Amino acid sequence: MTVLGIESSCDETAVAIVRGGDEVLASVVYSQVPLHRPYGGVVPEVASRAHVAKIRGVAEEALARAFPGEPTPWDRVDAIAATRGPGLAAALLVGWTFAKGLALALGKPLIPVNHMHAHLWSVRLGHPELRGQNLWPQLGLAVSGGHTCFVASPEPNVYRLLGQTIDDAAGEAFDKAAKLLGLGYPGGPAIDKLARQAPEGADRAIHFPEGRVSADHPLPPGWEPALCVSFSGLKTALLTHVRKHPPQNETEVATLCASYQAAIVAALAKRAETALAHGRYRSLALGGGVSLNRGLRAALGAVARRHAIPLLLADACHCGDNAAMIAGLASAFPPAPAAGAETLALDVDPSLPI
Ligand code: KG4
Ligand code: ZN
Repeated sequence: MTVLGIESSCDETAVAIVRGGDEVLASVVYSQVPLHRPYGGVVPEVASRAHVAKIRGVAEEALARAFPGEPTPWDRVDAIAATRGPGLAAALLVGWTFAKGLALALGKPLIPVNHMHAHLWSVRLGHPELRGQNLWPQLGLAVSGGHTCFVASPEPNVYRLLGQTIDDAAGEAFDKAAKLLGLGYPGGPAIDKLARQAPEGADRAIHFPEGRVSADHPLPPGWEPALCVSFSGLKTALLTHVRKHPPQNETEVATLCASYQAAIVAALAKRAETALAHGRYRSLALGGGVSLNRGLRAALGAVARRHAIPLLLADACHCGDNAAMIAGLASAFPPAPAAGAETLALDVDPSLPI
């Protein structure tokens, strides 16, 4: 099945065409980062207006790349998929409504996709060698600007939330720290780069809290306190440290970044370790923008090795928000044809659960 996928949940306008779950024929991402940079974060109204302005052009470019030389390739796809949630309501609406229009006009099925499921599927894109492998039960960690979730998948496309952040997401923790240190937006890449330039041992130079969630903290049923995390105290600890000891030079900023990143990475690696120790998993999948972080990749690689399972990482172009993960997941698990009419009546769901 060949699917045209649309992603517009946050600040990337993206359209992709994927065949059979993992064969990416085209993936176009228009990043709005420069539009939001002056505000130090994503402004929902700015995001949705930019989605409206760009989505048609991005879709046409994706089709032209997937089917070069064909004048009207719209008919070459078997279905239209789009992110239905979670995300910013006004941003989601643009992609979802565009997808509905396309599906109606072309007479093709519309497939709603959960953005977090798609992040976990992103590790499969461009990796057909994984098709024959038995990777389930799988432990998934989706880490982005809006989410930090540990997910158990007993079988493909089945998801159970084991735990997540109770306040800031990991990406948010990176972005807020970068803002505080004057490193610009988005902050993750800047902190990652400086952490790598920091002197040996800088990751242990300053102590930051690990973000433990106490066993008596009220949590929804099924969430394990040991697999939940709190990153808001980390940001406060950084602020307190910087007020007491303002960094005097680049090396001191880099040292702060290394220690701060190490705290986030250690918190996530410890929880991955706990989840793997208490369940039977055949693979660990890491998805989302923060999965680009070198420290996190290395730490989770070590955790997976200890448990003798593969760590599945998305290619760099599929870590941040993209539509290949939407089209990929939809083409791997197309719904029964009967679901078509009901889907067209669905609205977006900004807090769509895992
Ligand atoms: O998945 P994504 O592109 O968008 C959301 O769905 O949120 O993730 C964006 C987040 C931002 O917070 C950004 O700072 C973070 O991913 N990020 C990183 C790195 N690259 C991007 N965080 C840490 N290290 C990186 N190298
Ligand atoms: Zn995302």
